[in-house]
Parts: sequence; structure tokens; C-alpha cells
Amino acid sequence: MALTADTDTAPVLALAANWYTDPEVFAREQSAIFARTWQFACHDSELAKAGNYVTFAIGRVNLFAVRDRSGAVRCYHNVCRHRAHELVEGRGSRPFIVCPYHGWRYDLDGALKSAPGEDQVPGFDRACIRLREVRTEVFCGFVFVNLDADAEPMEAWYPGVEAELRAFVPGIDALHPIKQIPVEEACNWKVSVENYSECYHCKLRHPTFASGVIDPDRYDISPRGYCLRHTTVSAASGKMTYAIDAGNPHAGEYSSWYLWPAISFQVYPGSVLNTYLWRATSHDKVTVWRGWYTPGGAVSDAVDQLAQQDLDTTVAEDIGIVESVQRGLQSGSYEPGPLVINPQGGVMSEHSIAAIYGWLHEAMGEDRQA
Ligand code: FES
Ligand SMILES: [Fe+2]
Repeated sequence: MALTADTDTAPVLALAANWYTDPEVFAREQSAIFARTWQFACHDSELAKAGNYVTFAIGRVNLFAVRDRSGAVRCYHNVCRHRAHELVEGRGSRPFIVCPYHGWRYDLDGALKSAPGEDQVPGFDRACIRLREVRTEVFCGFVFVNLDADAEPMEAWYPGVEAELRAFVPGIDALHPIKQIPVEEACNWKVSVENYSECYHCKLRHPTFASGVIDPDRYDISPRGYCLRHTTVSAASGKMTYAIDAGNPHAGEYSSWYLWPAISFQVYPGSVLNTYLWRATSHDKVTVWRGWYTPGGAVSDAVDQLAQQDLDTTVAEDIGIVESVQRGLQSGSYEPGPLVINPQGGVMSEHSIAAIYGWLHEAMGEDRQA
């Protein structure tokens, strides 16, 4: 088979290796992708009271989320308007945001309340100085930000996803995280995302998932907006590796909603919500945070068992895959191969990978060869 894409009938080719191995591509992605898309900040339940804050970062951009006195969640750049010291660290609670360098004091709504010595400065107009706020949405209890002030709302990026999540996970707003498990992968973030976004490898590489959690033969992935919607049903009940609560009409289904570029909501059979969050730290390293949620953060033996099974099987299996792919991409010998795309979709098709390439090219504004 000719590995070219010169005609309409030729296969779509995988991306050139430098998309995954070049630090300059990664640097361009920071402004072209991560600064212009919706990014997970924290969970709403981590900000239970006014003044509770959580810091987070999008690449080198340091931010924090805080609940203000009206009950709204706001997100700010974690940079003092005076001489740029970081304002808060980690997580905690503050009645005001007080810069540790010279003591400028900001209210939770971002307004500068006082600056030591300001009275002696002609023309110092405190009313003009506010923390730099970023676009924030609370999406089914998950706080998201977009560094692009003109970005479309999440409903426009991911049409219908919020309503579907609410149908699949009744009471989703009352969930709290019970586990946030970091998984270190020595690969480019896109290698990990692409691996997540096809199930062509599931039967071969994920025997527990493909025989004890879901039915791989019913697996399909549909692009919608900037979302990849994964659907199938649970494994035959006698093969399930855990007991499912059949009270929800969707309890027997498996669904996931991958939201370009770096988070996915998964609902395992039994309405068990869990998340994948990709935090790229360099061109060849990514931390994948596996989050698990229960109503009010209640202890759940079933979820504990499922999270551990997931870690020991699917996650461990995927680490081996993505790190092997990264080594192949870095070998200097790789030439892009053809994607296996079935026009009918289905589990044996990589049309979802082509969708990701489309979003990548749109964001980066260049042809396939970076
Ligand atoms: S840098 Fe924050 S008060 Fe000076
Ligand atoms: Fe996988």
C-alpha cells in the first residue's frame, strides 16, 4: 500500500513524528491550543465557602479559583498587579487575597482594597486596579476556564453534553471527588489523548475492560462539536467485574465525552462518573489525572474497587502503549502510516483520530506537516 495521501481515495495518514517530539511545536500549542480552549480548573465542591481557593496552572499560566462573597466562583491570574508576585499557593481559605510581597489587599471580587502607602502617591487610583479575571464556567459542578476572553461558551463547543451528562448521572452537581490519581506518562500529551480516543486496540490490549466492563463489539465514537462521544453497553451481566446499580435508565451503558483538548468525562456502567485530565508538562511528558466521584464524597467500596481495577489494568496497559509509541516517534525511523477508517464507524475504526487531527490543524493554523 502506498503511504501517501495524494488522492481522494488514499488513506488519511498519521501525523509526522515532529508533532510529538519537537519542543517548539509544544511551545506553539500553549498559545494556539491551551490558551484558547476550555480547561478544567477544579471541582466546585473544593470551594465550599466564600474565600476558599485552589491554585492551578495551564502551562506556565498560573491561576487560582476562589468563591466570592456572593457565592460565585471566579478565576484570576495568580499574579499581583503591583510587581507580579504570586498571590496564593496550593489551596486554602482567605477573607481577602493579600499579596505576600508588599501586602496589597484584594477583595474576593478582584477589587484592590488597600495598598500600603498609597495615600502618599499622587494619582494612585485604587479603583482602576483589579485582579485579572478569566472566563469561567461551572459545568455540571466542574469549574472550567478559558484564557480567551472572546471564546464561545462551553455549550457551543460541546453541544448537548451537559444535558446528556445530567441524564446519565442524576445528582451530578452533588458529586464530590474521592480520588485524584496522578498517572505519569513519558509521552507527548497527544499520544495519550489519541490512545484514549480509539478502541481499535481495546480487544488486543485491554482484556479486562473489553470483557469485564464493556461490550467492545457495540463500541462507537461520534464527533460532535469539539467532543468525541464514546458509546457502548456494559459487558454481559455474568461477566461484569463489579455489581452495577440498575436504578438509572442508562445504568447498563458505557459513555464517555472527550472534550477537546484535555479532559474526558466517563460514565461506567452503574452511573459511576470518572474523569481523565491531561496536564502536559513538556513535549514528552504528561500527567494523566484519574478522578473518581461519589455523591457527597461518600466512601464507596464499589468505586474503590473499580478505580483500583482500572489502575491495575486499563491504565497500566495504556502506559506501556503510549511510552512505546513515543519511543517509536523519537526513533528517527518513523514515517506516517495510514489510519484505519471505516466509513461506517465502529470499534475497528480510527475516524476519531482524524477528528482530533482536524481540531489540531484548525488550532495550529497549519498543514499536517508541522
Ligand atoms: S508584588 Fe504584590 S504587593 Fe508588591
Ligand atoms: Fe487504551
